[in-house]
Amino acid sequence: MKNIAVFASGNGSNFEVIAAACEHGVLPAKVVLMVCDKPQAMAVERSKKHGIESFVFSPKDYASKADYEREIVRLLDERKVDLVCLAGYMRIVSEVLLAAYQGRIINIHPSLLPAFKGAHAVEQAVAYGVKVYGITVHWVDASLDGGKIIAQRAFEYDGSDADEVHRIGQKIEHTLYIEVIDKLLKEQL
Ligand code: GAR
Repeated sequence: MKNIAVFASGNGSNFEVIAAACEHGVLPAKVVLMVCDKPQAMAVERSKKHGIESFVFSPKDYASKADYEREIVRLLDERKVDLVCLAGYMRIVSEVLLAAYQGRIINIHPSLLPAFKGAHAVEQAVAYGVKVYGITVHWVDASLDGGKIIAQRAFEYDGSDADEVHRIGQKIEHTLYIEVIDKLLKEQL
């Protein structure tokens, strides 16, 4: 049994899918912590619903990113976390977290990286008139949505409705992320 921590900033649908997969034995793991930098986020409600411990913080309450990341590393260490899954966590992680969890942090992103990095990937892709969209799961490094790619899944869409692309993409995210996590856990990381 492995221990997972999920980081989120918003809706938390990926967090919830990972939590449910652990609860139902689909993943050989337990979500031992949900980390969220937005106290009002839906992800916080979802963690309560699943009885999962959360660390909810406001970055402005800390003198620096290094300060709150040191706190996060302490919590991850205490809970013997094997894998950190960023799931809509809208912050670039710094060397503090990377050094402590090198090779154990992954992220999911709603584009075929390296195209369309950042917080508005789908909107940018739609504005370009992209015809083939996709989802990427990758290792996390100090760059924005950088790091070696682990898996990608593409889909075709010929239109201009960004909400529709989000809907299609999220369905794919919810299966792709579970598949990748399962594979990584079984490979013993
Ligand atoms: C997901 O679509 C994820 O790919 C994206 O945020 C969304 C979070 O959804 N992440 C990024 O854009 C990272 N740059 P969720 O809160 O419902 O899981």
